[in-house]
This record gives sequence, structure tokens and C-alpha cells, in this order.
Amino acid sequence: MKALVYHGPNDKAWETVPDAAVQDPTDVVVEVDITTICGTDLHILQGDVPAVTDGRILGHEAVGTITEVGSAISGFSVGDRVLVPAISRCGRCEYCTRGMPSHCQTLGGIGWIFGHLIDGTQAEYVRVPYADTSLYAIPEGVSDEQAIFLADSLPTGYEVGVLAGGVRPGNTVAVVGAGAVGLSAVLTAGLWGASKVIAIDSNKFRLEKALEFGATDAVEVGPGTVGDVTALTDGLGVDVAIEAVGYPETLLTAASLVRPGGTIANVGVHGTPVELPMQDMWISNVTLTMGLVDTVSIPTLLKMVAGGRIPAEKMGTHSFTFDQIGEAYDVFKNAAAHQALKVVITPS
Ligand SMILES: NC(=O)c1ccc[n+]([C@@H]2O[C@H](COP(=O)([O-])OP(=O)(O)OC[C@H]3O[C@@H](n4cnc5c(N)ncnc54)[C@H](O)[C@@H]3O)[C@@H](O)[C@H]2O)c1
Ligand SMILES: [Zn+2]
Ligand SMILES: [Zn+2]
Repeated sequence: MKALVYHGPNDKAWETVPDAAVQDPTDVVVEVDITTICGTDLHILQGDVPAVTDGRILGHEAVGTITEVGSAISGFSVGDRVLVPAISRCGRCEYCTRGMPSHCQTLGGIGWIFGHLIDGTQAEYVRVPYADTSLYAIPEGVSDEQAIFLADSLPTGYEVGVLAGGVRPGNTVAVVGAGAVGLSAVLTAGLWGASKVIAIDSNKFRLEKALEFGATDAVEVGPGTVGDVTALTDGLGVDVAIEAVGYPETLLTAASLVRPGGTIANVGVHGTPVELPMQDMWISNVTLTMGLVDTVSIPTLLKMVAGGRIPAEKMGTHSFTFDQIGEAYDVFKNAAAHQALKVVITPS
């Protein structure tokens, strides 16, 4: 089979590799019908994730069809259409049983294994361990082009942004960063009855997208950001400020937008320490949340997509075939220049 193989920083190739096969009784093999690229894949290619070593097949998001099942599999059969999520789970360890497969102990303390600790989904076929507890059947009425965004970005914006932020009816919400993850928070904040959803970004195309995805207001980031958002919230600041970029300055922006009693939900992956103005924050009764996505909201999100409440397909702006995967990475890496959000990659 063919797959996208990592060979060290800035070195990857679409090449022939040994076929994916069942190794353990709890495995299945999935033929990939559609996959996508995540910002994390770009971090890996910069050499930022040392656990990913030469020879690893990249990718942690896929929709596909089961072609082989291990002897212990009872919930799935050959021919089933399934979603392969970014987070796998054994279903039995301390963290899986408390709904936190992001820290699955059986999988080595981290639920993110594809394209990280084992071979990933940017391939014609992928081996899926603990398939009974990790895969999701895709209901009728949900297309591949919708389901693929439920593997990672939609649950991330929803779980680590909207749910962790505790969005409630009537709340005002600011989302700092309108990439796929921030836009996923925008798409799902309305489900909890937010009265205002304010998207903040420097990229005009993404701000337009945010309005299309249900934001009530779009603010172009600049020296007046805090004043602009405060003016939109009767001078009070927002109830929930979601950080979806991952820089110290954007977390500080989120912190300065939140009103007393509110919540700052940090979604961004940070690479450096952040100095928070605790001398101002302690007296404001604010909550700061953070975490790695668990993807346990996928069944809910699948129902909302099937019911027409979440237009997940709008995330995909560019399509490529597997043999164009290098081009797909170039477009995703230079998203602003290409007016790109998420790219989808299919066999042909
Ligand atoms: N916590 C988790 O489990 C988890 C999972 C997936 C991704 N993430 C993280 O979420 C973050 C967002 O992911 P993404 O895929 O949407 O990334 P992205 O790069 O596509 O989007 C980030 C957006 O932030 C905007 N931005 C940059 N600087 C800004 C600033 N100063 N003010 C306002 N906006 C600014 C960019 O224009 C871009 O639109 C990343 O840090 C990613 O690593 C976290
Ligand atoms: Zn990802
Ligand atoms: Zn587990």
C-alpha cells in the first residue's frame, strides 16, 4: 500500500510501505476513504514532536471502510463505514472509565496514538487498535466530507472550548482565533444558547467564515480588540473567552476579555511559558480551563450533523487526491494565501 511517511524534520514522502494488517485480536484494518491534515502534523514536520520518529506514517483523522477484523471484534464487521478519531481508547483503564481517553493508560498514557506512537491515517489503509471501543459507526445521512471533521477539530472546539468554558443560555462568548478549532467553537457555541459569539482573528477570510458559521460579530485583532469586545458586551466583557491559537499574547487577550465570574477556556497548544497577571485576575473570580481533547462528544456531534444542526462540511475548503498530498500540505501550511481552512484528501 501507499502512505505518507515521515523521515525527519521537513522530510516526508508518499511511498510504498508494507500493507496494514491485523496484529492483535482487538485490531481492525480500515481502508481510508477520506483524511485531512491537522496543525499538529505541521508541528511534527517542524521536528516539534520528538516521539514521532523516522518511518512513521502521519495523520490522525480518517473516515473509511473496514476491510479486516481481529478475532475479538464484536461491534464492527467488514464493510462497515467508520470514523477513526484522533483519540483511541482501551475503554477499561482509570482514565477511559472516567471519560478521559486522552490519557488512556493502556495506550501508554496518551490517547493520541495515530501518526504519533503508531502508523497513522494518511495512507491507503490503517490498522486500528482497540477498534470496538475507539471507532464510531457513521449514521446514514452523514457524508464522508462531514464526518471527517468530527475526528479532531469539531470535538476539540466543542469539548475544550464550549463545554469546558461552560457556555450557558444567554452567555456572551469570545473566540480568539478563527482557525478550524476556533470555528468549531463558533459552530457549537450556539447549541448552548449563546446570545453573542464574537470571533477575533487577523485573517479577514476566516472572520467572514466565522460570520457564516454563526458568529454574531467579527473583530479584526489590533490594539483596540479589548475595547471593541467590551463595547459589544455592554462594557462588561464576555462570560466565556475561548483561546484557540496557542500564543502567550492570545491567552492574555482572552484573559482581558472575560468579565468577573467568567471562564477562560484555553484550547491552544502552547510551546512557551505564559505570564498571567494574577494580581488582576485573582479578584475577578474567573476560572481558567485547559486540556487535551477526549473526542467523547463524537456521538453527540454525529447526531447534530445528521439532524442538520451542524454544517460540518463547510470546514473543507480544498480537495486533493492521495498522490497530490504534498500539494495538500503546501496549501494547508500557507492557508492564509490560499483562503484555506481544512483540506480533504481522498484516494482518487
Ligand atoms: N487542546 C487540544 O486538544 C487541541 C486539539 C487540536 C488543536 N489544538 C490547538 O488549537 C489551536 C488552534 O488550532 P487550529 O487548527 O484552528 O489552528 P490554525 O493555525 O488553523 O488557527 C489559528 C488562528 O489563529 C489566528 N491568529 C494568529 N494569531 C492571532 C492573534 N494574535 N490574535 C487572533 N488570532 C490570531 C490565525 O490567523 C488562525 O486563523 C492550535 O494551538 C492547536 O494546536 C488543541
Ligand atoms: Zn489534530
Ligand atoms: Zn484506556
